[in-house]
Amino acid sequence: VNGTKVEVLGREYTGDHMTNVTPHLLSHIGRDLHLQPHHPLRHVAQRVTQHMYRQYLSPRGNPLFSVHSQLHPVVTTHQNFDSLLIPKDHVSRKKSDNFYINETHLLRAHTSAHQSELISMGFDNFLVIGDVYRRDDIDASHYPVFHQLEGVRLCTLKELYGTHQNMDAYHLFENGERTEDHQGVHSAEAARRMEAELKGCLLGLATSLFGQDTEVRWVDAYFPFTHPSWELEVQINGEWVELLGCGIMEQEILANAGVQDKIGWAFGLGLERWAMKLYGIPDIRLFWSTDSGFLSQFRFDDPATPVTYKAVSKYNPCINDISFWLPKDQQYESADFYDLVRSVGGSLVEQVNLVDSFTHPKKQLTSHCYRIVYRHMERVLTQEEVNDVHRKIEQEAASSLQVSIRC
Ligand code: PHE
Repeated sequence: VNGTKVEVLGREYTGDHMTNVTPHLLSHIGRDLHLQPHHPLRHVAQRVTQHMYRQYLSPRGNPLFSVHSQLHPVVTTHQNFDSLLIPKDHVSRKKSDNFYINETHLLRAHTSAHQSELISMGFDNFLVIGDVYRRDDIDASHYPVFHQLEGVRLCTLKELYGTHQNMDAYHLFENGERTEDHQGVHSAEAARRMEAELKGCLLGLATSLFGQDTEVRWVDAYFPFTHPSWELEVQINGEWVELLGCGIMEQEILANAGVQDKIGWAFGLGLERWAMKLYGIPDIRLFWSTDSGFLSQFRFDDPATPVTYKAVSKYNPCINDISFWLPKDQQYESADFYDLVRSVGGSLVEQVNLVDSFTHPKKQLTSHCYRIVYRHMERVLTQEEVNDVHRKIEQEAASSLQVSIRC
């Protein structure tokens, strides 16, 4: 491995004794599931983003949070660990738990790796969305690549208190003892206020996605980069599920990034976990599916569309196209054809899509081509059986929608 070149998204690194990335793992990089239109992970990321946009507006009514969803997944050990005050001998640095490119670089293990650089760049309110990498067993809820969404908010004294009568009575910092509920440098009152704001924001987020009646609870937690720290759990089908980690940012991180006059909070959540609970997706590996049976269930534009995932058949799909001229002087709606396909094809039809449309310049006639995906949940479909249904759909369309089938 020593001296071999490792290329990741156009950047080249030199391997050494720490290198443990495999070609198979590297093949996941660049898939950017969180950026793919209609992907369930993107729907969830958009819902969280919208919540944050609505929650925090500038005096002029613009969203305060900026979104960073295309940061390079290769980070330095400084970014992933040191900048977050993770001790040199901390277990989370182990080679067996991370994907190292070499001694100094790794695939980020969490989106927190970008906190410090973005703060140094001057961002006060931001979200980071991206793929993260951890060596782990693979099963229904663990996969070596998953996606996180990180939120960071820094506040000045004025932003935290608004315009109070006697501002002199309030301050962010003091020289005190570190206790269970605040850092030594923070005033107990400012830390309490930040905690209340953070928890209010995240509770609002969880209940807006999972429902107003969702049971929630805060559990004390520990992270080297926040103090105090908490995890939010929600009850789903009688089971407590951890949704996110959060806390008041260690002041040393802000100071190291050149910020002296602000106090900050941060949270991080796993998009797969949220999507699995929200849509009832049973296996984390499904997010990587390119099968239309999976993807088509999320093909909607409003990310808040309520859907419950239905298991996709393990049997092969049969794909047949149908083309016809639309009736010349009559109303024709694709929706009518979709209804017809569903009523004739029943549960054999997995999906129908308009794949081509053109108008003949001389004839002034429009032609549509639809692709129908046939698939049975419990058995293999024969081509004859599919052809039979397909022919019935053609006949029915010709007679009830007045289209003329093209051959
Ligand atoms: N980075 C933490 C994780 O991956 C989550 C977290 C983010 C916790 C920000 C607190 C603050 O588990």
